[in-house]
Amino acid sequence: MAATTKNILIFGATGLIGTHITNSILANKDKFGRIAIFTSPNTIWTKSDEIDQLKAQGAEIIAGEITSEAAVNEAYNGIDTVVSCVGRPVIHTQLQLIQLADKHPDVKRFFPSEYGTDIEYWPSSANEAPHQQKLKVRALLKNVKDLTYTYVVTGPYGDADGALYLGAKPPADEAEGTFDVKRKRAVLLGDGKGKISLTTMRDVGKFVVAAILHPKAVANKAIHVNSFTSTPEEITAEYERQTGEKWERAYTSLEKLNQIEAEKGGSVTLRRIWTEGGTLYEKRDNHLVGLEDGVDDLQAAVKQAIEVQKAT
Ligand SMILES: NC(=O)c1ccc[n+]([C@@H]2O[C@H](COP(=O)([O-])OP(=O)(O)OC[C@H]3O[C@@H](n4cnc5c(N)ncnc54)[C@H](OP(=O)(O)O)[C@@H]3O)[C@@H](O)[C@H]2O)c1
Repeated sequence: MAATTKNILIFGATGLIGTHITNSILANKDKFGRIAIFTSPNTIWTKSDEIDQLKAQGAEIIAGEITSEAAVNEAYNGIDTVVSCVGRPVIHTQLQLIQLADKHPDVKRFFPSEYGTDIEYWPSSANEAPHQQKLKVRALLKNVKDLTYTYVVTGPYGDADGALYLGAKPPADEAEGTFDVKRKRAVLLGDGKGKISLTTMRDVGKFVVAAILHPKAVANKAIHVNSFTSTPEEITAEYERQTGEKWERAYTSLEKLNQIEAEKGGSVTLRRIWTEGGTLYEKRDNHLVGLEDGVDDLQAAVKQAIEVQKAT
């Protein structure tokens, strides 16, 4: 029988996606026992307002360094489910977190920090630079003895914060793709007609909670979930509809994107993978976790993206 969840420990709770995942778990606290957050003394100091809010919502705060075996082992006492939302620079620290979880008698489920592109989509995925640390995490999880894992694969975020897919890039970087509400200008990747599946960050939080609550359906696999599938042309048309104005359109061909990637790498590699179709699946797994309905559509995502861009 798949292990079920009562007590949850979250790593990376105050990060970009960790905030949404943690808020969603806390919003469902009546379904769980303890909800604890493991974070560094530095974060407790520098993000004291956010930490106070989490406490007020019922989170238990555990201070420690993520690299400290003793601190992590102690935090695992009484915890059956670990949800990791750690950022890209510290993805490798999860190797120790998983080894300790596997040996700990209480921990039974582990959700590694994924929440993005499927790193095992095509055979060539194995060679993509941004996937390397996450691939090591998956390789370790495939060999654990006493731990069940789930990779929550969401594709790119359908949000406008920072450099996210529905956001505005600074004009100098707009060839990497932009939807700029203030300039009424979009730079569409590829020919603009290629499909892309996106998940809003608030839906990522919902999907993680739903996955936690459907242990049997998600045990030892990647689940491919998303809010909606669209194209850059459709997204631009929705921005035009909601802003009530015609937008200027430019295009960055896949060939040009490859050239930019050769210069810059990093997040441009992910945008190239998405433009090649790397977020499309034969079927999506929303139904596995009971979330076929109740997630954002293109209209809702663009509405939120316009609000975010206008506020910044
Ligand atoms: N699909 C997409 O479009 C997309 C976009 C961005 C990210 N992602 C994925 O989402 C996951 C989380 O990324 P994120 O951008 O949310 O991460 P983030 O905000 O950069 O960092 C998340 C948390 O990781 C911890 N952390 C970061 N640097 C650390 C360090 N040097 N030492 C110790 N802890 C550190 C911190 O935890 P505390 O809160 O405890 O301080 C931080 O809040 C990653 O797997 C990433 O690939 C996907």
